[in-house]
Amino acid sequence: MYYSDEIIEEVRSRNDIVDVISAYVKLQKKGSSYFGLCPFHNEKSPSFSVSRQKQMYYCFGCGAGGNVFTFLMEYENYSFVEALRYLADRAGVDLPEQEYSEAERRRADEKAVLLEIHKRAAQFYYVQLKSSQGEQAMAYLRGRQLGDDTIKAFGLGYSSKFSNTLYQFLKSKGYADDMLAKSGLITMDEKHGPHDKFWNRVMFPIMDANNRVIGFGGRVMGDAKPKYLNSPETLIFDKSRNLYGLNRARTTRKSYFLLCEGYMDVISLHQAGFTNAVASLGTALTAGHASLIRRYVQEVYLTYDSDDAGTRAALRALPILKDAGITAKIIRMEPYKDPDEFIKNLGAEAFEERIEKARNGFMFSLEILEKDYDLKSPEGKTGFLNEAARRLGRFEEEIERNNYIEAVAEKYHTGYEELRRLVGKMAVREGLAKPVQRPKTAGAKEKEDGIRKSQKILLTWLVSDERIFGQIKDYISPEDFSDGIYRKAAGLLFQQYHDGEINPARIMNYFTDEEEHREVAALFHTRIEELTSEREKEKALMETVLRIKNHSIETATRNLEPTDMAGLQRLMEAKKELQDLKKLHISIN
Ligand code: UTP
Ligand code: MN
Repeated sequence: MYYSDEIIEEVRSRNDIVDVISAYVKLQKKGSSYFGLCPFHNEKSPSFSVSRQKQMYYCFGCGAGGNVFTFLMEYENYSFVEALRYLADRAGVDLPEQEYSEAERRRADEKAVLLEIHKRAAQFYYVQLKSSQGEQAMAYLRGRQLGDDTIKAFGLGYSSKFSNTLYQFLKSKGYADDMLAKSGLITMDEKHGPHDKFWNRVMFPIMDANNRVIGFGGRVMGDAKPKYLNSPETLIFDKSRNLYGLNRARTTRKSYFLLCEGYMDVISLHQAGFTNAVASLGTALTAGHASLIRRYVQEVYLTYDSDDAGTRAALRALPILKDAGITAKIIRMEPYKDPDEFIKNLGAEAFEERIEKARNGFMFSLEILEKDYDLKSPEGKTGFLNEAARRLGRFEEEIERNNYIEAVAEKYHTGYEELRRLVGKMAVREGLAKPVQRPKTAGAKEKEDGIRKSQKILLTWLVSDERIFGQIKDYISPEDFSDGIYRKAAGLLFQQYHDGEINPARIMNYFTDEEEHREVAALFHTRIEELTSEREKEKALMETVLRIKNHSIETATRNLEPTDMAGLQRLMEAKKELQDLKKLHISIN
């Protein structure tokens, strides 16, 4: 950051967040906050809140959140500095001259520079496509039935036949070789000098959810290998946390995503009106992808390729989606290879029918399993039902499990009660084969989540009602919060209290990227049950404080070196204080 904290804070405090956001979102006052329809995901009833007191926004639906800078970065796709300049201008604050030289700034913020390089590269490829050099590439895209609007919407481009035109272009814009190498778009070759990674390919910019170009895929126009060349992972491109097409899909009014495999699948689907399509781009779906999806929708229709590889990929994706709390259905593309070919041959209406006929993911996985057994023979059917029962046992919710048992019993002509018993038997057997391990880790995770929840509740309370600080400050300190963002945010908040001004929006300024802003915003916006009486509030506060302190002592005890006598002494005292605390009365008024 090359503007001082003071000037950043001045700009922030002179731009009231409710006023700024009102220009974009229709807000209505409800209690102490303003609510509106979230501009970052689809919803029909408002869960997007803006607080004048906290000077922050937070969406209870998708978790988007931050201060006035974050909002403009997310909504307008501004960089931090662009947001700062815009708001300075809006409030009539004169920004001082940049305090560092351009070159120093570059070093200071590599991520921003890499994003800038990618933006320029995408523009460069786009211009090339439209130039006479790009005729063949244009013809190729036309041959694949893409219209001008689609080409523009996805920012498709062309990398020329010469081996270093992008390099020359970026050099002329003043970028240093080391940053160009870090972008992954330029290869520094000692023998032959710098050259472009992509040449003579049709270019597909890969964008993050906020429309920022973070990488590229390049396709050959013929049959050469490899068919697609992709950007390597860089500081700004993490393949397991990005989905192609998400920037567009996230604003469609559908409650589910179509998840496919390739660039062309997404583009064809969008062109045909299915603007909720995204792709994991040839890499296997990860838990990171799933949690990204879960921010926007709870349901996914898998439209993977109809070959064996696609089927296997779909089967592997099912449990990952399930773990993230997403229900999955499967759409088959037969007799075509993938959604792109399907749409081209049968059109959008036929695809719509396939969506309606989508199969339940679990039932689909059993259909694939069937192929390994001869269901006509008694042994075959027994073997199949045993395996099906084993899988049914993995549904943890009883109602869900029973619903599936019923569906399987009906489809495979067997008795519901018998199948249910078999599921129970298999579950016991599975349990014996893998003792305790699963429940134990699951329990630990739940506990950790519970503690974090308590910490969030306390932080939310503290920013909403300063009096609470006075009540808890003798018992709780920032060290009692979990490592990382929680502790850092708590530290800053306690410092502000100490300095006499609670200002959560300012805390945001200490975190650099939007992902962190989102997390910090969540810390200050935990839903707290409406506690009506003061007594209820005091009791809940007391329990929260005890819980946090208790966990903090437990953690410290676990990490204590056996020889650390002083440390042990301190812990004993802390434990004693905790006992005293239990007797104490916290009063809010
Ligand atoms: P496909 O081979 O199914 O390609 O790979 P496609 O999307 O149908 O492309 P077209 O229609 O032939 O042009 C699916 C995805 O796997 C990745 C790409 O992301 C591709 O979209 N892939 C495939 C690669 O990264 N490299 C390759 O060589 C091939
Ligand atoms: Mn394909």
